[in-house]
Amino acid sequence: MIDQRALPSRFEVIVLSTPAAVAGAIRDMVVRGAPAIGVSAAFGIALAAFQSKAVDLDSLRQELRQAGVLLNAARPTAVNLSWAVARMLALAGEPADSVDALRDKLSKAAQSMADADIATNRRMAAFGAELIDDGDTIIHHCNTGALATVDWGTALGAIRTAHESGKKIHVLVDETRPRLQGMRLTAWELSQYGISYEIISDNSAGYFLRSGKVQKVFFGADRVAANGDVVNKVGTYMLALAAWTSHVPVYSVFPISTVDLSLANGDLIQIEERGADEVLDIQVHGQVAAPIGAKARNPAFDITPHQYLTALVTDAGIIQPPFFDNLSKAVL
Ligand code: MRU
Repeated sequence: MIDQRALPSRFEVIVLSTPAAVAGAIRDMVVRGAPAIGVSAAFGIALAAFQSKAVDLDSLRQELRQAGVLLNAARPTAVNLSWAVARMLALAGEPADSVDALRDKLSKAAQSMADADIATNRRMAAFGAELIDDGDTIIHHCNTGALATVDWGTALGAIRTAHESGKKIHVLVDETRPRLQGMRLTAWELSQYGISYEIISDNSAGYFLRSGKVQKVFFGADRVAANGDVVNKVGTYMLALAAWTSHVPVYSVFPISTVDLSLANGDLIQIEERGADEVLDIQVHGQVAAPIGAKARNPAFDITPHQYLTALVTDAGIIQPPFFDNLSKAVL
C-alpha cells in the first residue's frame, strides 16, 4: 500500500504480509481514511488465512478471529474497520470444503470489497457532484480522496467528478491539524487532478465562511449514528457550526457502510484520543513551539450534531432531513 506518511515529499509503496503488520499500518496511519482502513483490514484477515499453518478449518477460524481482534483494536472510531472484519469473519464461518478453499474464498472476498469500494465511491461522487455548481468555492476538511478510500474518494470524489464534468471549482483546503491530512494529502491529490486550490489554516474557515465567498462545505465521515450525527476528523464540528451560522450548506459524503444504526446518536461513538506528540511536534522558526514539558490533548475526531448538516450524500442517494427516518430507510 501507499505509505501516506511520506506524502507529499515521497511516493512510497510498502509491502505488508501479516495481519499484525496491517494492524500496525492502520494504527500508525500509513493507511488512513475510513473506507481505506476497512478494506485494509479485510486484506489483513485474508493474510491471516494465508499465513496460518492450520490444517483444519476450526483452527484456521480460531486464528482468523484472533486476527480480527488485533485489527479491530488498531483504531476505534471508523466503523468501516469493524464492519469489514465482521463481514470477513462471517464468511469464514460459512461451510467450506477445505482450509485452502477458505483461504481462496477470503482472498476473493477482500478483493471484491476493494472493487466494490471504488464502485460505491463513483456512485456517491455522482450524487455529490449534482450539489456542486459551476464556479463554486468549497471548503473541504481532512482528506477524503483516493488515498482515504480504495480509489476516487468520498467528499473529494464528488468534487473530482464535478471537476471532470467541466465545472470550475476552487477548493479551500483546511490544513487539518494536527496530522495535516488536508495540507499534505488533499492538496497533493488536488494538484494531481488539476483542481484549483488554496490551503487555509483550520481556524480561518470561519473568516472565509462569513465573507460570502464560500458556497459549500464538504467533508466525509468515520461513523454516522442513527439520527444522522456525523463523527469525522476533529475540526469538522467547528467548521459545520461556522457554516451553519453563515447559511452555507454543509454536506457529509460517506458510504452506507459508515452508518451505525446500533448507536442512537453521535455522543455514543467512541472518539479515538491519540498521542500528545502529534499536537506538540511542531516547529516555528526552527524551534519547538511548545514550552518544554507542555501537555496536550489530541482527540482525533469530533461529533457534528445532525442539525448542522444540510444533507447526507451516500451511495444510496442524497439523504435529506429528517435523517433519523431517511437514513434507516436508506440502510435497510
Ligand atoms: O484520522 P484519519 O485521517 O483516518 O481520518 C480520516 C477522516 O476523518 C476522513 O474524513 C474520513 O475517514 C472520511 S473520508 C473517506
